[in-house]
Amino acid sequence: MCSESTLICVTDVLADPGSYGFEVGHEGETVEGFLVRFDGQYYAYRNSCPHTGSPLDWVEHQFLDLDGSLIQCAMHDARFQIDSGECVMGPCPGESLSKLEISVEGENIYLISTP
Ligand code: FES
Repeated sequence: MCSESTLICVTDVLADPGSYGFEVGHEGETVEGFLVRFDGQYYAYRNSCPHTGSPLDWVEHQFLDLDGSLIQCAMHDARFQIDSGECVMGPCPGESLSKLEISVEGENIYLISTP
């Protein structure tokens, strides 16, 4: 089965470390997610905390903690590893963010598939 790719944004919108929230239509679904750039790598997750399902951002596009080393949920302060999405601090230890498959082609970042 082939899946379509959906343009999310261009790489320039992300600092390193940095994050970027988005909402795109993909294969008939509205996908609310966020991107993280860290050490030259890109990661994407659904904007839904495994604790209660709330969005994570505390300010638009802000998904990282103050030193940019972990993803932070604004609601109850859970922290997640950037590369795996696993909760390492807060009310949902061991649970994980839902990872989105992306592709970086030149300066464009595409959503490929959703879990
Ligand atoms: S909703 Fe994210 S920590 Fe509670």
